[in-house]
Amino acid sequence: MGRMLELLLVALLLKTLALTATAVSQIGDECNVDADCSSGLYCSLCAAAGDVSTTCIRSQATPSTHLPFNKYAWLTTHNSFAIEGEPSATGSILKTNMNQEDSVTDQLNNGVRGFMLDFYDFLDDVWLCHSEGGICYNHTAFQPASQTLKEIELFLVANPTEIIIIFIEDYVQVPNGVSEVFTNAGLKQFWFPVSKMPKTGGDWPTVDEMIQTNQRLLVFTSVESKEEREGIAYEWNYMVENMWGDGGMQPGSCPNRGESRPMNDANKSLVLQNYFRDDPNENLSCVDNSANLENMLDVCYKASGNRWTNFLAVDFYKRSSGGGAFKAVDLLNDKMQCGYDGIDACQARLNLMGLPYSQLVTELNTCA
Ligand SMILES: *[C@@H]1O[C@H](CO)[C@@H](O)[C@H](O)[C@H]1NC(C)=O
Ligand SMILES: *[C@@H]1O[C@H](CO)[C@@H](O)[C@H](O)[C@H]1NC(C)=O
Ligand SMILES: *[C@@H]1O[C@H](CO)[C@@H](O)[C@H](O)[C@H]1NC(C)=O
Repeated sequence: MGRMLELLLVALLLKTLALTATAVSQIGDECNVDADCSSGLYCSLCAAAGDVSTTCIRSQATPSTHLPFNKYAWLTTHNSFAIEGEPSATGSILKTNMNQEDSVTDQLNNGVRGFMLDFYDFLDDVWLCHSEGGICYNHTAFQPASQTLKEIELFLVANPTEIIIIFIEDYVQVPNGVSEVFTNAGLKQFWFPVSKMPKTGGDWPTVDEMIQTNQRLLVFTSVESKEEREGIAYEWNYMVENMWGDGGMQPGSCPNRGESRPMNDANKSLVLQNYFRDDPNENLSCVDNSANLENMLDVCYKASGNRWTNFLAVDFYKRSSGGGAFKAVDLLNDKMQCGYDGIDACQARLNLMGLPYSQLVTELNTCA
């Protein structure tokens, strides 16, 4: 009797060891405890579906937050502030290009996380404006930057796990003018410090860490000296970027813009991809933001030394003939993350996108 019990215990111990050693059961595989299942899954029974044994079941939303920041793609709007139908806060009639159609708050609620903003000295303040020779005029001035930054502040406060990235095309000459406008908008509390940004390639802190430390706002300026003077990251110290406008839309090519190092410079951990016209056109953007955009992801991947885009910048971000820029960003996340999270996370994302299993094989082959 004693020997039987002993054998039984040994058998149980061996089974437990085998399970804990592997813990790689995938969705639908049988399991005994949560630890049997790979990450993002738990062990449960769906009796109502007629299941008779416990299986590994999805427990986490996609995308995850445990990977380095540079393993994610972020939907970015070009000239996020140049919104059709919004009057100039100067009271003048606007005579300038428009690139978007809904407010920054709506953009945030729809999942836009990157914002390209043009900052100018104007009327004793910092304004969002379009350039004519680097000068802001009433007929090209949208509103004080503080108003848009306040919308971003409200969103960061209300959504404690979200991260926002701002790219400033910076014409502000007033010393500390840019810093002050962020301070006054209550955004310094979310500031991600330059000291934590990788300078010679390599991974960024994880998204989890950025959330835990509440350093959830990344701000990049186009003026190199402001990194030293004001602690605002100089954009091209940290990322490569392709040509903007028509130069970034030539099929089959993804050249860097002048200020950026070559796309394949691995000392820059991040990749910014522009895909919008010189002359914004809301009617043509539904074509631009569909298959043409998707095709270009691959072109820029190859040009960037086999690295997928982190920031995908478009005009009229909601216009497409289907999945549009949202699907393009899903595809990028899928590509960057499937090699990390394993086949199930990849499969789950494909399911969300409504793509077939056969694509999974292709995806995994392109994973690093
Ligand atoms: C520009 O707008 C401001 C604010 O409304 C106004 O005070 C100023 O007179 C305007 N300038 C011109 C040249 O119209
Ligand atoms: C990357 O940085 C290292 C160390 O600073 C340097 O030796 C190397 O030349 C750089 N590579 C490129 C492509 O600039
Ligand atoms: C887009 O189409 C609408 C309706 O046909 C037209 O009124 C508008 O002028 C067009 N916009 C551009 C930039 O071509």
